[in-house]
Formats: sequence, structure tokens, C-alpha cells
Amino acid sequence: MKRVNLAIVGATGMVGQTFLQVLEDLDVPVGELVLLASQRTAGQTVSFKGRDYTVELLTPQALDPVRFQYALFSAGGSVSTEYAPLAAKAGITVIDNSSAWRMDPAVPLVVPEVNFDAIGPQDHLIANPNCSTIQSVLPLKVLHDLFGLTRVVYTTYQAVSGSGYRGTADLARTQRGEKPAFYRHPIADNCLPEIDVFLPSGYTKEEQKMIDETRKILGDDAMAVSATCVRVPVRNGHSVAINVTTKRPFDLDQLHEALAAAPGIGLRIEPENYPTARQASGQDLVLVGRIRPDDSFPNTLHLWTVADNIRKGAATNAVQILMKCMEARS
Ligand SMILES: NC(=O)c1ccc[n+]([C@@H]2O[C@H](COP(=O)([O-])OP(=O)(O)OC[C@H]3O[C@@H](n4cnc5c(N)ncnc54)[C@H](OP(=O)(O)O)[C@@H]3O)[C@@H](O)[C@H]2O)c1
Repeated sequence: MKRVNLAIVGATGMVGQTFLQVLEDLDVPVGELVLLASQRTAGQTVSFKGRDYTVELLTPQALDPVRFQYALFSAGGSVSTEYAPLAAKAGITVIDNSSAWRMDPAVPLVVPEVNFDAIGPQDHLIANPNCSTIQSVLPLKVLHDLFGLTRVVYTTYQAVSGSGYRGTADLARTQRGEKPAFYRHPIADNCLPEIDVFLPSGYTKEEQKMIDETRKILGDDAMAVSATCVRVPVRNGHSVAINVTTKRPFDLDQLHEALAAAPGIGLRIEPENYPTARQASGQDLVLVGRIRPDDSFPNTLHLWTVADNIRKGAATNAVQILMKCMEARS
């Protein structure tokens, strides 16, 4: 693979730092590396593969297509809203981790194992889906292809690392008995059914993201999707319980076989061998278990998925998109 000249926007954040780890773990051949962040951390030194890099301030001028041809963005929605189109217009291919562009019909929303073909040769802005959506659509794609999907109901158990450093700090703070500084209630010894802002519908924005993004990635607007998203006092690793109704009757053996063969999935068939957030943390597979028929409704089953929300739910998925684009465009 040819070397890639690359920028990371939000390089000092939790996802930004994990980008560097994943680039190293997946052995991506990086040439020029430009690390960008806000005034708060510009000037700091960050090391990558034994070399020190100075973090630079993000400005429109910093988005220079002569220095880099790809940019991984993870600095929040407002930064992506302003800067991602500038970079894309300059000819830089942006892979954006924020929710700013995900539902734009002109922007592909991609999980490489599911819909890499959504990216066209001229696309310079590619959106990385929400973390809980990514780990859900891997097994759902298998079910969709085999039996069709009528309805999907999500309940999530999301780690505090999903809120970046402010989330992990609030868990530590409230575990010490101090007042929360980020979440509305103490997250220690608690479950908060509130992720992102509340919408007039009564859903949270996180729930609406899962609903909309699932339909977009699977290319199925007719499918009914609903979600309840819950923040739990887990440091890292999201869990999602999924209740699925299929169009045609499902066959569990056929499903097990297809899930076992699907890229990116680690299947745990035995009920007591269910995967946990701790097992998911620090690796790149989406682990799937607790698959069982839901006898309360026709053609319906339950399953459980866990994944590292910072790796496969953010950085790894984006780096996999990068690598596939490098291959396809070289
Ligand atoms: N954590 C997750 O599980 C997860 C999963 C999927 C997607 N994401 C998305 O990834 C993004 C970052 O999340 P995170 O968890 O890494 O957050 P974080 O730990 O708070 O880091 C935010 C990063 O963005 C930079 N930044 C903030 N404002 C900036 C500005 N005006 N100009 C330039 N850089 C700026 C920060 O730089 P300074 O430190 O210099 O301010 C820092 O490097 C968010 O859009 C989030 O929704 C997160």
C-alpha cells in the first residue's frame, strides 16, 4: 500500500488519540502526519511510532491539500460543520466522526463490512456512523440479507468514554462522592436514560441517530426502528440489546453460520459464553451473543452485541474506511 499523508483534526481528544493507536495497530503506512486541535492544546507534543509531532492550531489555512490528502475529523459537530466542507472542497478526503453530515443525502455513511460500496470515486466527505449504530448494523446486515427486516428495537448500555474525557472524568469524580460536572445526575452507581439532547418528540438525539442511521446504512426506509439509549457506569465498551422482527421466518442454524462467516463479528453461540463490555474493550471485533427466539411475537428474536466504542465505534471504523479508500483510489 502507498504511504498516506494524513491529518487528524481533534488529535488530542479521546478518539483522536485512539486514531494514532489504531493507525499503528493496523500498520497503516503514514507519510506526512499533521495533528490539529484547538488553542487549548496547540503547541503540545504528541508521539507517534517513536517520533514527536507538535499539535497545530486548526485554521482554514491549515487544511492544505499539498501537505495531506486525507483527514480524520473528531473534534465535534461544530468543527466538522465549518471545516469538513472546506477540506473536501480543497480536494482532501475527509472521514468525519461527528454527527454533522451523517444524514446529508449527498454524504455516504459507511461501515466498511456493510456498505463500503456507498462511497463513489468522487466522494470527498464520508461520514462515520454513531458508535452504537456501528456495532448494531454488523449483525443486522446479516439478518437483513438472509431474512429481511421488519422492525428493530434497540436498548443500549453505553460507556462513559462515549462522552470523551469529560465522561470518564465524571465517572471518576462521582465514584469519589463528588458532585457531577458533566452528566445531569451522578453516573456512579446509576443508569441515565439520556444521551445527547432531548428532542421535542421525547426521544434523545442519540436515539434518533440510531433510528435514522440504521435505515440509511441498511438502505431500507421501510424498516421500523426504535431505540432507548442509556448511559451506564462502565468506563469503556458499549453493549446493545436488539429485538429484531424479520420479514421471513428465520433459521437459527443458518443465522449462526452466516454470523460466524461475517467479517468483523466474533460470535458467541453458547448462552453462558455471552460477551461483555470488558471483553470488547481494547479490540476491534463486534462480539455477538444471547441469540434466542422471542416467542412473544412471530419471526422475532433477541441478540446482544458489545464493542469498543472508541475503536470499532469510532477510530477503527474510520481507519478501515481510510484503508479501503487508499486501496480503491491507488
Ligand atoms: N468518544 C466516543 O465514543 C465517540 C464515538 C464516536 C464519535 N465520537 C465523536 O468524535 C468527536 C470527538 O470525541 P472525543 O470523545 O474524542 O472528544 P474529546 O475527548 O472531548 O476530544 C475533542 C477533540 O476535539 C478538539 N477540538 C475541540 N474543539 C475544537 C476546535 N474548535 N478546533 C479544533 N479542535 C477542537 C479538542 O482539542 P483541544 O483539546 O485542543 O480542545 C480534542 O482534540 C465528537 O464529534 C464525538 O461525537 C466520539
